Amino acid sequence: MQSIQSYISDNKDRFLNELIDLLKIPSISADSAYKDDVLKTAGVIKASLEKAGCDHVEICETDGYPIVYGEKIIDENLPTVLVYGHYDVQPPDPLDLWNSPPFEPVIQKTELHPEGAIFARGASDDKGQVYMHVKAMEYMTSQNELPCNVKFMIEGEEEVGSANLGKFVASNREKLKNDVILISDTGMIAKDIPSITTGLRGLSYVEVEVTGPNRDLHSGLYGGAVANPINVLTKMIASLHDENNHITIPGFYDKVENLSDEERAEMAKAPFSLDAYKRALDIDAVYGEKGYTTNERNSIRPTLDVNGIWGGYTGEGAKTVIASKAYAKISMRLVPHQDWEEITELFKSHFESIAPAGVKVKVTPHHGGQGYVTPTNFDGYKAASMAYEKTFGMTPIPERSGGSIPIVALFEQELGSKTILMGFGLDSDAIHSPNEHFGIGNYLKGIETIPWFYKYYTELKS
Ligand code: BES
Ligand code: MN
Ligand code: MN
Repeated sequence: MQSIQSYISDNKDRFLNELIDLLKIPSISADSAYKDDVLKTAGVIKASLEKAGCDHVEICETDGYPIVYGEKIIDENLPTVLVYGHYDVQPPDPLDLWNSPPFEPVIQKTELHPEGAIFARGASDDKGQVYMHVKAMEYMTSQNELPCNVKFMIEGEEEVGSANLGKFVASNREKLKNDVILISDTGMIAKDIPSITTGLRGLSYVEVEVTGPNRDLHSGLYGGAVANPINVLTKMIASLHDENNHITIPGFYDKVENLSDEERAEMAKAPFSLDAYKRALDIDAVYGEKGYTTNERNSIRPTLDVNGIWGGYTGEGAKTVIASKAYAKISMRLVPHQDWEEITELFKSHFESIAPAGVKVKVTPHHGGQGYVTPTNFDGYKAASMAYEKTFGMTPIPERSGGSIPIVALFEQELGSKTILMGFGLDSDAIHSPNEHFGIGNYLKGIETIPWFYKYYTELKS
């Protein structure tokens, strides 16, 4: 049997080139202009799972983009790991901020990645991390070293809210039956400090529309005499936080889980440099809810953020106009026990109630999902911890993340399975931003670590 390390060094160039080919396809789920590319990507994932030794791979149609399912069942009595990931990516805009085109992957050395990093949309989120699993599978099957059963479920709509996955899961319970779900779609604390993501925030995403007069008006002839929807919208949005940056929506915090002092002290032990954080973002100060640290603000506390705002004239030069309408897209990140549908309702009734006379307000919910917390004392966590220990020489640190993968809570509800989040990305990967990249070292370390998870998990279970 060849060791995983030597298998990686023999096949490194191929592992990189195959990922680069996958990254060339612009599988942007949000933009229907890329429909054919998203579908093509599903086909490439299918072929890669077949090549990696899955016995049965299929493309499962949904009302949206298809789900690629693959499996290798070696013995019904052995444990089954279900790997979930997504092959769709975020839109790459603004394009002019990319140093190289988002779908023409290039390898570039950086300070953090002297071995090189692959720059492309989806490199880290999530094609690169999905592909680590495909290559780890290839290694295990090629060596006849797969210790348990494996199922893959790679979807194409994660970045737009996984609207059709819930139905697929609910109607395929037997097919997806597993002992643990394994996901690499998060990050770790630092390149040499492994961590296991133990929490994800929930999400409620809404769009608001404020309508004033029935048409755009001359801002001189009418200015001062009618409500300007943009002025009103920005004032309404500003009122959603108080002077301590607490969210003002009545009932918003009612169900928020408050961590004990011990839990907060435990969290504060994770390595973190506020200076480095500020430097990385070119900011002179952090900002957020009074009474909480930066790491608490972006993980265990709920938030409300405007993701986009528009209306009126934004073209070149000046146009004197009072717009008829103003819009904003708003996300609320939620923490355990907050129910996203309830929060969406609270937002809607509050936002409607604060609208002044002279405007009409419409709130349209987009999508959402529940948060998730992983226990640290189950076999999945233990196996992951041992796997990192083996390849990084260090016990991973449990870390609650601020991001969301709404389907994780639904897996538990529908399949009764816990999820273990073994992410190999870094905050500096710039996911969802221009110049997204994935360190080659991270990519290969992922491929190296994953087979150990299977081995230890199977041992713990038997
Ligand atoms: N992979 C991310 C989520 C993530 C990244 C979690 C890093 C933790 C650490 C995922 O693809 C994502 O972007 N999720 C969306 C939510 C979704 C409903 C659009 C998010 O968090 O904004
Ligand atoms: Mn992702
Ligand atoms: Mn994402």
